[in-house]
Amino acid sequence: MKNVKDVYRDFYTVDDAINFDFATVKNLQETYSNKLKVALSGGKYFKTADNASFIDHAGNKHVDMMGAVGVMTVGNNNPFIWEQIEKVFKAKNYMMGAISYHNVAAAFYRNLALTTPGQKLTKAQIAGGGAEAIEGAIKLCMIANRGKPEKTKLLATLNAFHGKTSGAVSVGGKDTWQAYQGRLLLNQITHIPFNDVEALKKELSSGIYQGFVVEPIQGEGGVHVATNEFMRTAREYCDQYGTIFVADEIQTGCCRTGKFWASEWSGVIPDVITFGKGISGGLIPLAGYIAKAEIYDAAYGTPETAFHHTATYQGNAIACAAGIAAIQYMIENDLCSAALEKGKIIQDAMLAAQKKYPGIIKEARGRGCLIGVEFEPVKDSLKEKYGENWAMECERYFSEEFRIQIMHSFNNPKVFRWLPPLTAPQADIGYAINAFNKSVEHVYQLAQG
Ligand SMILES: Cc1ncc(COP(=O)(O)O)c(C=O)c1O
Repeated sequence: MKNVKDVYRDFYTVDDAINFDFATVKNLQETYSNKLKVALSGGKYFKTADNASFIDHAGNKHVDMMGAVGVMTVGNNNPFIWEQIEKVFKAKNYMMGAISYHNVAAAFYRNLALTTPGQKLTKAQIAGGGAEAIEGAIKLCMIANRGKPEKTKLLATLNAFHGKTSGAVSVGGKDTWQAYQGRLLLNQITHIPFNDVEALKKELSSGIYQGFVVEPIQGEGGVHVATNEFMRTAREYCDQYGTIFVADEIQTGCCRTGKFWASEWSGVIPDVITFGKGISGGLIPLAGYIAKAEIYDAAYGTPETAFHHTATYQGNAIACAAGIAAIQYMIENDLCSAALEKGKIIQDAMLAAQKKYPGIIKEARGRGCLIGVEFEPVKDSLKEKYGENWAMECERYFSEEFRIQIMHSFNNPKVFRWLPPLTAPQADIGYAINAFNKSVEHVYQLAQG
């Protein structure tokens, strides 16, 4: 057998990588991948992670209140999920389930169906990430409606975020992410303002829409909660005018808002739910959609179309084992109740801060452990120093002084967003709230300048 280092002198084994120092990691990553992405995100390097704590390369503890942007519902490196994944390895399972029967994939599909509202969504399709799940849902709407020439478009909302592949940025409501890619699917999509019931009725009653794609809470858009009226009108009009109702629950699902799926808050049953982020416990890429059987079969239930949406890693055993384990963990540990309890503590603290600092905090909103705090603009004379609004300085101070990881909304940077692991210890949440109050006080003092 050859030694790889005789062939490529600079080849690094996994053991090498685990023992890299920070300078090596930084240099390799910046040279061989995107040079700016990490640097512009604070340039952090965390070596280990356990539930809501990270340890950086210098041995400092950091508290995780963003859960890799809503992924870590079950906490970082949840041992139960690792244990379950290991069973697939020990069983020497055949790994690929895309075009063969597969025990673990079959169980995952069934278990996921059990979690859906009214258990009415029963046909799942797996993807590697959220944007690919959205691509799948878009295609499902189009292919299920083939043969209906009047159905020519998709309906979506402004300020939405559905991922960054071409189809996903097209249904997304932010032109920043649509730049430099030609026309994308934009001539096939209409965007209406989120929560605008009249616009929703007007568009859907035209009868031209194959599907309506919406987040029950716009997360990246700044934590805007869909009203019950908006969700229920969407359901009613989608039924009446033959439009497929797609709820993008990639960020809001998996107990994040206090229900397994956030659509449940309005009592509607969407036709399709997209899932991702927390569904695999943050360990393995896993996302996809689950749809009502009649809609799925309308698209893929014929030999002509059955292969129109296959992908190599669909039904991968490790991903599906992680999915089964994460669902089991969320249910057995009642993470929906945890999201409500911990979310209420954070929400109450944010509302109290808003009351205390009305010139700094405009609004605190959200549901469960998906909470947004909207900051007021910085006055003109201080903008050069602190940016457009106080969220950025507050976030910087919060993370640098107190070593807490939090993230503003990408599409709406004036909103400071809490997305803690639902398993975060009360002590960490208390520490973070205390640090937040000190950070707002810091910003308040600056604002007086
Ligand atoms: C609602 C929603 N949809 C889709 C996505 C895209 O998921 P991914 O980053 O896995 O492609 C995200 C990611 O933040 C999201 O919040």
